[in-house]
Amino acid sequence: MNMNTLLKWGFGACLALSLLLPLRASAQKVPTNFVEEKVPAYTLPDVLMCNDGKKVCRRTVWEKKRRAEILEVFSQEMYGHVPARPEGLHFETLSVDTVYAGLGLRKVVRIYLDAAEKHWFDALVHTPRGFEGPVPFFAGLNFKGNDATLDERSSSRWPYELILGAGWGVITAWRDSVEPDGKAFADPGQDAAWFCRDGGVRAWYNPGGDWGAISAWAWGLSRLMDYLETDPDADASRVVVMGHSRLGKTSLWAGANDPRFAGVISNCSGCCGAAISRRCFGENFANVIRVFPHWFTRAFDKYYDREADFPGDQHWVAALAAPRPLYIVSATKDGWADPKGEWTCAAAVAPVYRLYRKPGLVSARYDATQWPAADCPVTDGTVAYHIREGKHDITPFDWAQYIHFFSRHLNR
Ligand code: GCU
Repeated sequence: MNMNTLLKWGFGACLALSLLLPLRASAQKVPTNFVEEKVPAYTLPDVLMCNDGKKVCRRTVWEKKRRAEILEVFSQEMYGHVPARPEGLHFETLSVDTVYAGLGLRKVVRIYLDAAEKHWFDALVHTPRGFEGPVPFFAGLNFKGNDATLDERSSSRWPYELILGAGWGVITAWRDSVEPDGKAFADPGQDAAWFCRDGGVRAWYNPGGDWGAISAWAWGLSRLMDYLETDPDADASRVVVMGHSRLGKTSLWAGANDPRFAGVISNCSGCCGAAISRRCFGENFANVIRVFPHWFTRAFDKYYDREADFPGDQHWVAALAAPRPLYIVSATKDGWADPKGEWTCAAAVAPVYRLYRKPGLVSARYDATQWPAADCPVTDGTVAYHIREGKHDITPFDWAQYIHFFSRHLNR
């Protein structure tokens, strides 16, 4: 065999191997740890240590230098870059109804993404009545469609009467109407008719860009904010971005990218959300990369089973909420999302809040250096946390804490 043949064979074998490896990875069951004692020893990467090795000790350095560095790490290596507002964005109110015996108004607003009105998705807007002036809002995506948030099975996730009664508005849009979640395109129903044809916002806007679905959804949340800026009943300076689970990963990322959000909520967001990756407890990088590769930019693939090599950890993303109020929530039966890792994250952002002379996670009633007991919200600082008794979900209990905490911070 001459050298050329050898090289050809070698090349062929490498190619075959590289084609087979991902297959092997997807066919294998990923080892997952649920035992606290087996959490590997780890050091949390310092959120204030700049790339050049200098430590941030002033707010201006954080804002001008370090914050941008962190945003770039996660844009480059995990979620992909979030593009700007599209030109030609405009809105049309399709319907207005009085609901809940006069407690609020329900509007359907079409968000056109281009001047030609070829691309759009619909938002469902609830505004409380009987409160003076423009009101604060929660903004979040939903899993099953706008109408589904109104049906009884979803009413515990979207307790509109509770929210409206407290003087808050809430705007939501269907996740899949911005970007479908994966290969199987769900039926767009009436929320958006365009993506089945075009494949979601990523296929239309900035094609060839490196953004994953989480960045696309975060981009959609910013479009909800664009709308609220035009709604005279909404106070756009008091909009809290919220999300549950994969949409909680999204709300953290949206809050990081869009400083117009005045507060950030992560509800049971877990791996690549608020959970510290280096703990490797519950869902891990190998799991998400294998099952949900479309959520991320392709550069993230290289961290398959390599949490310790990632140039940061999730408290860096959460810290980008600073100095705004931030609320992180876990549930006792949600080991998959690593509740303790989410609490560790909530506690670890304090140094950034301290630059603003704001307290991170503190409580007058409990020792906030300890992981709190179930249903004991730690809410006296600018960062709040609770672990709710129960399963992976968002419930009226969670909402009640959000309303209370953000009303205090945003003067409702
Ligand atoms: C799966 C996934 C999680 C995600 C969750 C959800 O469990 O592994 O990462 O947060 O779905 O979105 O409900």
